[in-house]
Amino acid sequence: MKQNDIVIRKEASADYAAVEHLTREAFWNVYRPGCLEHYVVHVLRRDPAFVPELDLVMERSGQLIGHILYMRAHITADDGREIPMMTFGPLSIRPDLQRQGLGKYLLDRSMERAAELGAGALCIEGNPDFYGKSGFAAAWTRGIRCHGDPEQAMSPYVLLKELRPGFLDGVTGVYHTPQGYYVDEAAAEAFDQNFPPKTKAVLPGQLFP
Ligand SMILES: CC(C)(COP(=O)(O)OP(=O)(O)OC[C@H]1O[C@@H](n2cnc3c(N)ncnc32)[C@H](O)[C@@H]1OP(=O)(O)O)[C@@H](O)C(=O)NCCC(=O)NCCS
Repeated sequence: MKQNDIVIRKEASADYAAVEHLTREAFWNVYRPGCLEHYVVHVLRRDPAFVPELDLVMERSGQLIGHILYMRAHITADDGREIPMMTFGPLSIRPDLQRQGLGKYLLDRSMERAAELGAGALCIEGNPDFYGKSGFAAAWTRGIRCHGDPEQAMSPYVLLKELRPGFLDGVTGVYHTPQGYYVDEAAAEAFDQNFPPKTKAVLPGQLFP
């Protein structure tokens, strides 16, 4: 992958529509027929947990090719402490450019910026085959579980990475996905009407009906 013509910069309001379009294209029919993630992006920008410094677009030759955003989150430790950390997503790469290293590149650069901003750790529910390449490991191996999961859950999809080594030493507990991610599906459907019509399909590998 050539990197010298790639620019990663903060999203500007002038990018909003293009980023939502890119997100819709990237996620369409991947996890469910259609997708909600373009609406999630739309909603999260106004969420108090949103991190504007880590709302990043990736461009190549001036063309939008990727986007990622970060949210403040926390772990409720079993000893009662609340440990601030971050999560991220949606993460989108333009469909015709996927599987060329661009998603990993954007994720890795954005994590460097998150570390600079002081984030000590990241949790994400996602594909271990992709996130494992960027240093994420199953959270249960560190004694961290997702809110709502049973205490002994060993989900391979709840993933954790320390950005500051040792940040979670001595911490076990529950990771809380920020509420903002749980969008109203009817509102997402209504939002989608602002976009060009696109056919929903039931495909193998989808997680939701
Ligand atoms: C997931 C996504 C961001 C990955 O970006 P990408 O540019 O396609 O992936 P990369 O080429 O950087 O992949 C990096 C590594 O992860 C692996 N990987 C990427 N996507 C994968 C997938 N869906 N399943 C398994 N492995 C995957 C690649 O094989 C690659 O490993 P390699 O370098 O050893 O070959 C992108 O495909 C995308 O936008 N997908 C649709 C939306 C989505 O699922 N977003 C993530 C959930 S929030």
